[in-house]
Amino acid sequence: MINKHLIDPMDFSIYELDEIFKLAQEIIAEPKRFSHMCDGKILAALFYEPSTRTRFSFEAAMMRLGGNILGFSEPNSSSASKGETLADTIKMVSIYADVIAMRHPKEGSARVASKYSSVPVINAGDGGHQHPTQTLTDLLTIKILKKKLTGHTIGICGDLKYGRTVHSLIKAMSRYENIKFILISPKELKIPEYIKEEILSKNNIEFKEVERLEEVISELDILYMTRIQKERFFNEEEYLRLKDSYILDLEKMNVAKDDMIVMHPLPRVNEIAMEVDYDSRAAYFKQAEYGMYVRMALIVKLLGVM
Ligand code: CP
Repeated sequence: MINKHLIDPMDFSIYELDEIFKLAQEIIAEPKRFSHMCDGKILAALFYEPSTRTRFSFEAAMMRLGGNILGFSEPNSSSASKGETLADTIKMVSIYADVIAMRHPKEGSARVASKYSSVPVINAGDGGHQHPTQTLTDLLTIKILKKKLTGHTIGICGDLKYGRTVHSLIKAMSRYENIKFILISPKELKIPEYIKEEILSKNNIEFKEVERLEEVISELDILYMTRIQKERFFNEEEYLRLKDSYILDLEKMNVAKDDMIVMHPLPRVNEIAMEVDYDSRAAYFKQAEYGMYVRMALIVKLLGVM
């Protein structure tokens, strides 16, 4: 894994993912043992789009490993605002840093960045396309809380058209046995055809598409809620019409399995009522915490420091 880029969830084999999850669990158990692992190393966090969890968890991960960070959360404070190309920015930053985490609104931008970088590039989200480190977070959460990555019925609810975390999760979970997806969305926000054709159908993965969460919630082992992605809509009226399509509340939770877990990549807007936060099946804040540990493990593996 040393010096590899992580652009797409399929860039790592199942064996490599297992190695990352094993290390993340070792870090969770004994964080102090890793606190100088990246002494002298630098992570560049280049965020051309807003973020709370991904940027801060990358930065916290590097700090907890003893390393340093540089970067920006607002591209206007970099020479991108003067017209510098992404290629030139990446060439420069890969001189200054040992690893780059980049979020960008353009689909495919992380792949482009990797072509110009002499250090590993981690895709921290490229438009509505992929978000592979969210997927590492999601898989580690499932592995820890549900004890295995196989044999689950997973309901994914909300904006399945623009939600990059959904696209990455389906791709990654398609490699595990006995997974069934129930895709819950308004018809305007259905999963893209290429995911159905190239991933689900091609791999003979059972799935169905429905519009009502109430119809299927009792079947689920995992409910993955998502936000309607306001920033990806071209038409504000359509966003306003669809934004409250799903609101998970305790009434709906009452008919779910006792051991179902509720995940969400966050940020949430209205789609999970705050009352659900106190239900022991709500896993989304734990999931965000695991995101930091899995990013620590990822940085250690990419830098080859152990
Ligand atoms: N899950 C996630 O990507 O959150 P942020 O947009 O806050 O980074």
